Amino acid sequence: DTNNGCDLRSPICCILGHVDTGKTKLLDCIRRTNVQEGEAGGITQQIGATYFPAENIRERTKELKADATLKVPGLLVIDTPGHESFRNLRSRGSSLCDIAVLVVDIMHGLEPQTIESLNLLKSRDTVFIVALNKVDRLYGWKKCLNAPIGKALRQQNEDVKREFNMRLTDIVTQFKMQGVNTALYYKNKEMEDTINIVPTSAISGEGIPDLLLLLVQRAPKTMEDRLTFVDEVQCTVLEVKVIEGHGTTVDVVLVNGILHEGDQIVVCGMQGPIVTTVRALLTPQPMREIRVKGTYEHHKKIRAAQGIKISAQGLEHAIAGTALYVPKSDDDLDRLKDAVMEE
Ligand code: GTP
Ligand code: MG
Ligand code: NA
Repeated sequence: DTNNGCDLRSPICCILGHVDTGKTKLLDCIRRTNVQEGEAGGITQQIGATYFPAENIRERTKELKADATLKVPGLLVIDTPGHESFRNLRSRGSSLCDIAVLVVDIMHGLEPQTIESLNLLKSRDTVFIVALNKVDRLYGWKKCLNAPIGKALRQQNEDVKREFNMRLTDIVTQFKMQGVNTALYYKNKEMEDTINIVPTSAISGEGIPDLLLLLVQRAPKTMEDRLTFVDEVQCTVLEVKVIEGHGTTVDVVLVNGILHEGDQIVVCGMQGPIVTTVRALLTPQPMREIRVKGTYEHHKKIRAAQGIKISAQGLEHAIAGTALYVPKSDDDLDRLKDAVMEE
């Protein structure tokens, strides 16, 4: 079992924000990959998913000397596009998540899709953290590769500290104008109703340990009920793709439950419900993006939360953004064939 003895499932974290604030680059920094540079025009155009096992997160946060016993098996991170034309994907991403990171460019402050994303989070009452990204662009910034942000800030000269504080104060005011209280996370005394801000750099990695630690510690603390594993499949189709050697596949996010090879599944199709059987359950390697071509791991079963590529016959007309179900009986199958077409 991939569950590490945890009775909580992995939280799903959605990354939201205005175009080019550094959402994908932040994930590249954590994964040590180069997904962003391979994107057409440097723009994300699909929802992505990456699984981070707890041991990798522990490794990246050890300099903070925090409690090393994480209560969740890992973290499933959903990357979304910030370009204005992809509002539906931001909405889909945020509807799947337990916790979110709203990325703001420290040089730009709140921008139109920051506010749009903020409204999505408010409307769903989603717990979130603000990553105040691109701190390395402050004039005169001294890089401290992958350092906790407190340590990195202490090493800056007075001018850098002054510019940082000025921009931070400005952005806190901009959030206030949107009706949201925010504070630098290590000065935040009211975690319940004041949103944490974590300054970060996706290029030199300052603040990444802090961001990861807040995500994995805060998620289980505030939402044990929500993260309690239930044996009921809750699953959404992200993409329908032809993959060499596997035919038409669907990329899905398994939010809860377990999927098995050989399971009968029901998905929404352009010409009616599709009933088929899971031929292969594939995942990218841990810490690899599902939307990037790579080698896949085969599984007999997979426990939530996870981003999965499912290979099965008849998926050609499956529709992205809809639910995937696993019937428990023949009666259940009839019910689900109706349910799946209602969306
Ligand atoms: P979309 O997905 O298209 O909305 O953009 P994004 O938010 O994923 O931003 P992306 O990762 O594509 O980064 C946009 C540009 O900003 C790229 O050129 C990155 O190299 C640069 N960038 C991202 N993060 C940082 C950072 O922390 N510091 C600096 N200096 N540049 C950054
Ligand atoms: Mg991106
Ligand atoms: Na971009």
